[in-house]
Amino acid sequence: MSYFCERIERMSAYVPGEQPETSDVIKINTNENPYPPSPAVMAAIHAVREEHLRRYPNPTSKPFRCAAAKQFGVTPDMVICSNGMDELLRMLIQACCDATRPLGYATPTYTLYSVLAETIGAPTRGVPFPADYSLPIDALAATDARLFLIVNPNSPTGTFVPIEDIAKLAKKVQGRAIVGVDEAYANFAKDNALRLVNQCQNVIVLRTLSKGYSLAGLRFGFAIASEPIIAMLNKVRDSYNLDALAIAAATAALTDHAYAQATWQKVIDERDKLVPQLRKMGFAAIPSQSNFILATAPNPGADVIYHGLKDRNILVRWWSTPGLSDKLRITVGTAEQNTKLVNAIAAIIAAGR
Ligand SMILES: Cc1ncc(COP(=O)(O)O)c(C=O)c1O
Repeated sequence: MSYFCERIERMSAYVPGEQPETSDVIKINTNENPYPPSPAVMAAIHAVREEHLRRYPNPTSKPFRCAAAKQFGVTPDMVICSNGMDELLRMLIQACCDATRPLGYATPTYTLYSVLAETIGAPTRGVPFPADYSLPIDALAATDARLFLIVNPNSPTGTFVPIEDIAKLAKKVQGRAIVGVDEAYANFAKDNALRLVNQCQNVIVLRTLSKGYSLAGLRFGFAIASEPIIAMLNKVRDSYNLDALAIAAATAALTDHAYAQATWQKVIDERDKLVPQLRKMGFAAIPSQSNFILATAPNPGADVIYHGLKDRNILVRWWSTPGLSDKLRITVGTAEQNTKLVNAIAAIIAAGR
């Protein structure tokens, strides 16, 4: 006899990337922005008064929703905010899926999806990406999923599917399934799916301030969709899911768009320098539209290079799972961090010969 539901007893918890206690590590394992957030963020936090903390915060993060509506040309009721995008994913899966309503996605993808589905006993329909990482539109649409989650650019691959392909999928499953576009990394890509929100009734675009706005520690995500979709999600949202500090800081970050955009460009420039450097050392790096690079490692192999880097206080991401165990996922750092990374890898490869 267990205190817990059988499915919770049976399942394994999601394993997040390593978060070291010390700051003397080059931390390029969980795709944070290497540049600090806008100075307006700290100013907004300092401007929060005792009174704001004594009282409950705005229940719907209205200041942020209004700022986002203005910036993205939508209504405030087309915006919902969450404690990191992870909370939004939980809300969306809870609202759309259950034991008879599967969750669909192309694989490999963000590993949290299947864990969230498992918590509510929803089956999953994973369709492998083809070798060119194009969206398997027909194969996805052929499943009985009632919610599709498409990460674009994808994680862990960094690959990008044309927005028109996402629109095709949305049209094929219209009336039956919602298509959630997880744009955690869209700030580093050449395009995004925001325009689909007005074109397709069943598309929701999910964003986070964790990557593009350098605020992973704040925990702030948001989504944009038609008002009926957002109204439905509000039913499963906790009443005060974001605190006063987070609402103030996130609103300041979003409003200082120019600052964030400058960091995106620096990351893109560094990414485009790092890819050829990795290739020169023998890595097979997949072209990335994101702030990280997935690359098949040369000899002495991904696990040896991962551990060798860790010994040198450089953290990258390595999974022992089939299909990924020969690869490293490397977050693009500052120019200085990337130089240290390249030098360390060169030393590990030389020692392994
Ligand atoms: C594809 C993808 N979606 C969502 C998230 C979660 O973002 P947040 O930090 O806002 O919860 C991540 C975080 O790594 C991610 O990689």
